Amino acid sequence: MGQESTSSYRTLSSSEKGTNPMTKRHPIGVFDSGVGGLTVVRALRTALPGEDIVYLGDTARVPYGSKSPRTVEKYSLGCQQFLLDRGVKMVLIACNTASANALPALQEATRVPVIGAVEPGATSALAATKHGHIGVIGTLGTVRSNAYGRAIAARDPAAKLTQLACPLLVPLAEEGWTDDDIAMLVARRYLTQLFVQDPAIDTLVLGCTHYPLLANVLHRVANELAKHEVAVVDSAGAMAEMAKEALGSGANRRSTAGRLDCFATDTSRLDELAPRFLGEPLTGFELVDL
Ligand code: DGL
Repeated sequence: MGQESTSSYRTLSSSEKGTNPMTKRHPIGVFDSGVGGLTVVRALRTALPGEDIVYLGDTARVPYGSKSPRTVEKYSLGCQQFLLDRGVKMVLIACNTASANALPALQEATRVPVIGAVEPGATSALAATKHGHIGVIGTLGTVRSNAYGRAIAARDPAAKLTQLACPLLVPLAEEGWTDDDIAMLVARRYLTQLFVQDPAIDTLVLGCTHYPLLANVLHRVANELAKHEVAVVDSAGAMAEMAKEALGSGANRRSTAGRLDCFATDTSRLDELAPRFLGEPLTGFELVDL
């Protein structure tokens, strides 16, 4: 799985790393614990088609969702540094678990803008909810951090939030079992626990980068359990819009499509998995050690 090298990007000098270059020709950096973050790249390529993107999947150490906050923070800092060393002008944390547990440390480590998944997800949920009853599903690490709880309470203290960890949804999405009887059964088992706690939930946040692949099933099951329409939102689109806004005049508005350079710490199964999340064919991943 060869890939062009990223040598056309000049790595920022140490003095530039302390500032925000925001130059059009520098790429945007995106990282995730694995391939799920490609759902964010997909949204980014729609919102900012001219931008070059450098993606890193820490596939050798996935999952982050079951690890301690300290480990997630340590791994996330390593991922971000890899992107900074490639001269990125902005970092998108396309992993809810890393966003929930490591955002302050990641922002502290650089002056380029660092955008996490939780704030955009919380904002989308509040825009979608009619009665302020929100459900969040994610990994154990995301739910335990209560990052969505804090982000939603900061914007609307009256909103009622119910959260649930749904660890089986990640392997289901990777296996491609996203719209069949097994996906329905698993979704029903998890979401029943959520709607028992609050039958009035009218908005469900997919607080994990893998879950957008299961959005249809989750939407159908949520509507069935709630017996009313439940809005399903995820962070990807809102993160891309936030990136566009943060770049402002620094966005690359050329008419040709930007490059996508993908790196991974393990390349097993990526040929099969990555296009599923990106929604388009990929030239390949370059194997790297962090
Ligand atoms: N990327 C993770 C997230 O969005 C899911 C996979 C994992 O547990 O690492 O939370």
